[in-house]
Amino acid sequence: MAGQRWLHAITLTSILGVVACGGGEKAPAPAAGAAPAAAGSDLTPWQLTHGIGPVTEPLDLGPIDKDEAAEGEKIFVAKCSACHKLGERYVGPALGGITEKVTPEFAMNMILNPQEMYTRHPDVKKLLGEYMTQMPNQGLTQEQAREVVEYLRTTTPPAPAQ
Ligand code: HEC
Repeated sequence: MAGQRWLHAITLTSILGVVACGGGEKAPAPAAGAAPAAAGSDLTPWQLTHGIGPVTEPLDLGPIDKDEAAEGEKIFVAKCSACHKLGERYVGPALGGITEKVTPEFAMNMILNPQEMYTRHPDVKKLLGEYMTQMPNQGLTQEQAREVVEYLRTTTPPAPAQ
């Protein structure tokens, strides 16, 4: 008799186990459907629009500062032109008029924190897939990155392909 009761207990436990598992499998489904993570993004709205990196506040964008832009052009030639042209794709995308495509804050975060951008930002991940080169961190200071962006603000987008 004692043996039978023991068996009964096992059967009951396994039935309960199955029920519990069944419920457990269903439970995460609605959560996954509702969370933004389901869209493949754990980024904040700021990060989606302005990139991931040290620039977390809107820049004070006035009229072009010509001196700053001239400094930025020198840096661009020294540190960026090995991979970027203004008017056409090269190792990386064309950067003429880039601040009309992405925000100046986004461009700065790309310069200052490229690795996190191409591993975590969906748009940049896509670019990495297309260009197959990881943009390196060029070690610019935030001020230098700001100057490069000031220069890029003076440039115009490439002419559309004919
Ligand atoms: C070794 C090549 C290389 C160098 C040097 C480089 N980049 Fe890049 N850059 C890339 C590639 C490739 C991408 C596309 C994303 C990726 O694959 O990492 C990119 C992407 C970008 C983007 C994003 C463009 C978009 O359409 O969203 C910006 C902005 C940018 N680079 C600016 C710069 C600036 C400014 C410099 C110089 C400080 C620089 N890069 C130096 C290769 C480079």
